[in-house]
Amino acid sequence: MPDRRWENDLTVLLTADQIRARVTEMAREIAGLYGPEEDLHLVAILKGAFLFLGDLVRAMDRHVTLDFMAVSSYGKGTRSSGEVRMVKDLDAGLEGRNVIIVEDIVDTGLTLSYLQEILRARSPKSLRTACLLSKPSRRQVDVKVEHIGFTIEDRFVVGYGLDYGERYRNLPYIAVITD
Ligand code: IMP
Repeated sequence: MPDRRWENDLTVLLTADQIRARVTEMAREIAGLYGPEEDLHLVAILKGAFLFLGDLVRAMDRHVTLDFMAVSSYGKGTRSSGEVRMVKDLDAGLEGRNVIIVEDIVDTGLTLSYLQEILRARSPKSLRTACLLSKPSRRQVDVKVEHIGFTIEDRFVVGYGLDYGERYRNLPYIAVITD
């Protein structure tokens, strides 16, 4: 039997099956907005969106292109300070492209509003945002997110890309730490 003690303090909020089903729906919804020959460029925000992106693109039956950006919000705890810093910029420009920002979670909305502002300034043809999770009760800025996977309560969650102190990103489900 594998040693599962590292998962003992977790209570599952969304199972791997629930996530898979919803991400597949989101992929179809997004891909269906563009013609088969139209450009579709996904910009994933590292590190949290890495699994979401992987499952999202595998459920898209069409050509896509990918790029990655990394941001860090100051502070290591369970609350972001609201100050966002770009750690890695995109490799390619966005001018004239249909861009989807792929993000793990929208909490206060500060990270996404910063990202939308800097990416919009690069003149994409269109810009939409897909976010796996949303905690609307925590919102500090009114940010537009066209595609939301699940709306959750104000609980700090881990797994499926989301971390606590860089751990738990590799869980196939989303959980709350209950120790
Ligand atoms: P915002 O700027 O407050 O919307 O926060 C967005 C970022 O904070 C996300 O990209 C996550 O990295 C992090 N974050 C917010 N809530 C959670 C959570 O419940 N678990 C893990 N990370 C979170």
